[in-house]
Amino acid sequence: MRGLVLPMLLMQLAAAAATPLAENITLDGCERKCGEVDVPYPFVTSYGCHRRGFKVTCDRTSSPPKLFLGGDSAGLEVLEISVQNRTVRVRATVWSCAVGNTSDEVFNVVPANLEPYVLSANRNSLVIVGCGFQATARTAMSLQQGAAMFPWCTSNCTVQDQQKVQPAGRCAGVGCCEAAIPTGLTSFNIQFLWLDMNATARPPWMTPNVSVLVVGQEWWRDTNTSAFKVWLLSLGHVIGQVIPVVLDWTVGQSSCTAAQTRPEFGCVSKNSECINSTSSAYGYVCQCNDGYDGNPFVPDGCQGSLRKHVTAGVFLAIGIGIGLFLLLLGLAAIFANRRLSIRKEKKMREYFFKQNRGLLLRQLVAKDIAEKMIFSLEELRKATNKFDEARVLGDGGHGTVYKGMLSNQRVVAIKKSRVVVQKEIDEFINEVAILSQINHRNIVKLFGCCLETEVPLLVYEFILNGTLYAHLHVDDPQKPLQWKNRLRIAFEVASSLAYLHSAATTSVVHRDIKTTNILLDDRLIAKISDFGASRGISVDQSVATTGIKGTHGYLDPEYFYTGRLMEKSDVYSYGVILVELLTRKKPSVYMSPEGVSLVAHFIMLLNQDKLSEILDEQVAEEGEHEAKQVAAIAAKCLRLNGQNRPTMRNVEMRLQRLQGSDIDISGVEEHLTYLGGNGEASYNYCSRQCSMEEEILLSASLER
Ligand SMILES: *[C@@H]1O[C@H](CO)[C@@H](O)[C@H](O)[C@H]1NC(C)=O
Ligand SMILES: *[C@@H]1O[C@H](CO)[C@@H](O)[C@H](O)[C@H]1NC(C)=O
Ligand SMILES: *[C@@H]1O[C@H](CO)[C@@H](O)[C@H](O)[C@H]1NC(C)=O
Ligand SMILES: *[C@@H]1O[C@H](CO)[C@@H](O)[C@H](O)[C@H]1NC(C)=O
Ligand SMILES: *[C@@H]1O[C@H](CO)[C@@H](O)[C@H](O)[C@H]1NC(C)=O
Ligand SMILES: *[C@@H]1O[C@H](CO)[C@@H](O)[C@H](O)[C@H]1NC(C)=O
Ligand SMILES: *[C@@H]1O[C@H](CO)[C@@H](O)[C@H](O)[C@H]1NC(C)=O
Ligand SMILES: *[C@@H]1O[C@H](CO)[C@@H](O)[C@H](O)[C@H]1NC(C)=O
Repeated sequence: MRGLVLPMLLMQLAAAAATPLAENITLDGCERKCGEVDVPYPFVTSYGCHRRGFKVTCDRTSSPPKLFLGGDSAGLEVLEISVQNRTVRVRATVWSCAVGNTSDEVFNVVPANLEPYVLSANRNSLVIVGCGFQATARTAMSLQQGAAMFPWCTSNCTVQDQQKVQPAGRCAGVGCCEAAIPTGLTSFNIQFLWLDMNATARPPWMTPNVSVLVVGQEWWRDTNTSAFKVWLLSLGHVIGQVIPVVLDWTVGQSSCTAAQTRPEFGCVSKNSECINSTSSAYGYVCQCNDGYDGNPFVPDGCQGSLRKHVTAGVFLAIGIGIGLFLLLLGLAAIFANRRLSIRKEKKMREYFFKQNRGLLLRQLVAKDIAEKMIFSLEELRKATNKFDEARVLGDGGHGTVYKGMLSNQRVVAIKKSRVVVQKEIDEFINEVAILSQINHRNIVKLFGCCLETEVPLLVYEFILNGTLYAHLHVDDPQKPLQWKNRLRIAFEVASSLAYLHSAATTSVVHRDIKTTNILLDDRLIAKISDFGASRGISVDQSVATTGIKGTHGYLDPEYFYTGRLMEKSDVYSYGVILVELLTRKKPSVYMSPEGVSLVAHFIMLLNQDKLSEILDEQVAEEGEHEAKQVAAIAAKCLRLNGQNRPTMRNVEMRLQRLQGSDIDISGVEEHLTYLGGNGEASYNYCSRQCSMEEEILLSASLER
């Protein structure tokens, strides 16, 4: 019985507390609302109120009407006024600064003519989005004596540092930096020290400019959209997003003691009190006494809340006290129980994880192919002439690769880690585990491994012709890869990734797709390699949180900022490869004359229908028509929000069709409909009308 009555009591109480207590937010005859925004006294919009107040302007020419601070609609746009908190939320300004400008810039967040407002110190942050700088902010016109210094902040986007990105959405000095705001501020100066003017380490989606803004923390720290926020800000400005900044306001110029004696004293409601302003050097504010709620600036504005019902309250309080106690006791028991079982489960999982890895390796040994899979160190030493330097094929991110010849005359590639780090051993074993289960003509075949050494050695099929990178970026203008080969390679890579992603129980994310990890055999057939960083994702857990892995220029920005690994991260990297195939430019070093990265520049030109400006000449000659369609697919793969990217299977099918219909002119129309698919805002819809930012916004779908 008690279990039923208590919640009901609680609900009634909650309902009572939720009923609006203060109906009188402003004086008779004053406008109470402008569009969606309440206008409580002392804020007044019109001259109908014959009282001194904080002038705001309601602009009815827009729909819905918009409210602005000050006497005209040129001021800051008001989003919300709070009398209780003595704050207003206004639309923030985002400044764009060119890299390399060393002059001290002044940022007037609150215009000087708006006297009662200062930046709220504890509800805002100074945020600077960009790479390769150290910013020193000084309070130019602090209301307090002297020029206080902000904590300075730096942003350095080198790849090593990308590991430090926190998924929580705060700036960790990579891609953006964040500093606290001192009290009583309306404007400040920033002096930039440029650490890396060419911003070679800038993530590919960033423009060279640096964005500066003061932003409300509530909005900024909303973790769901934090990644998107950084991307959008990195474009210099944000369309369609309302970025709030919080201002504190105070009444008058004097302290409570002085103001109370004057006729225009503001705290007019009964049950209200005056407090000296803490957010600003002068002035006071009013608040309702404890137990009262409402607007202290209007007569009878403060209305009793709980106190009205003191007698009932005592009974209620006792009842609730007992009830809550029992409830909490119950909850605590349930909670403790859950904690215990979660921990137990975690322990079991850890145990199984270790055991399974051992099993996996033993499984390899147990099969009849085991003899072939396990190589003795002696054999490999012979095969590589004692790991002769001359046999080194390359130094990958995860080890050195030697060319070797086995006793049966088979030519192989042998991968060996230089340093003995447990993490790398794990990665090797990871690679064995993944590759031993994989059989695809476009994925490098693993023959076996050698577990005798401290560092495991992996033995692969030897791929004769080197990397796609080397074939694409040759200096010799005679020999770049023909377009039809590039198209086929694109298809083969798509096909192998689709295979990896859709493997039965554990879909494998490669995590480091790039042209140096795509090998070509004697017939220029693509084979993807280097699975050291790969990670399996079981089907019931389609997103894994991991340390950031990947290569600058190819790295999925969503993964970069959220740390959440998805198959769609490979799709992004694959999109970069398509761009590389189309343009024959290197994603990790290319920079346009405007200082924009390859991916950003490519998307920009595509949107402006100027693809030919960046297309490789050879591609333009050999297959411009298909190239356009491949470019459209690339753009889809490069969408910022992973969910809006196509699957690799989808891409594979498109490319297959494209390859099959070499000279089909109707294909142009077809790709228009294709791009419009999924019911989402299509890329092509944008190609002529919208800017790059809008396209990115459309695809980013922030409201998610
Ligand atoms: C406050 O509102 C009540 C009822 O809504 C009304 O009777 C009263 O006159 C109002 N007071 C003022 C000062 O506007
Ligand atoms: C008032 O301040 C509290 C605490 O900081 C906050 O949770 C609330 O959202 C604020 N209300 C308004 C209207 O700003
Ligand atoms: C960078 O900033 C400068 C100066 O504020 C501006 O003129 C230029 O348009 C900006 N460039 C971009 C790409 O936003
Ligand atoms: C460089 O700084 C000066 C001084 O603040 C400013 O007037 C100018 O617009 C800035 N130039 C660019 C390109 O940002
Ligand atoms: C950025 O960070 C990297 C790695 O921590 C460091 O080597 C480099 O010197 C830093 N760059 C600057 C300009 O501070
Ligand atoms: C930046 O690039 C320019 C031209 O590409 C070059 O002259 C300059 O040395 C580079 N500066 C740095 C610091 O790398
Ligand atoms: C944030 O994302 C989670 C999971 O996607 C969702 O459940 C939650 O409602 C979101 N919160 C907001 C404020 O959008
Ligand atoms: C406000 O400040 C004045 C002068 O600084 C002081 O005399 C007074 O006691 C303060 N009043 C309150 C309510 O803190």
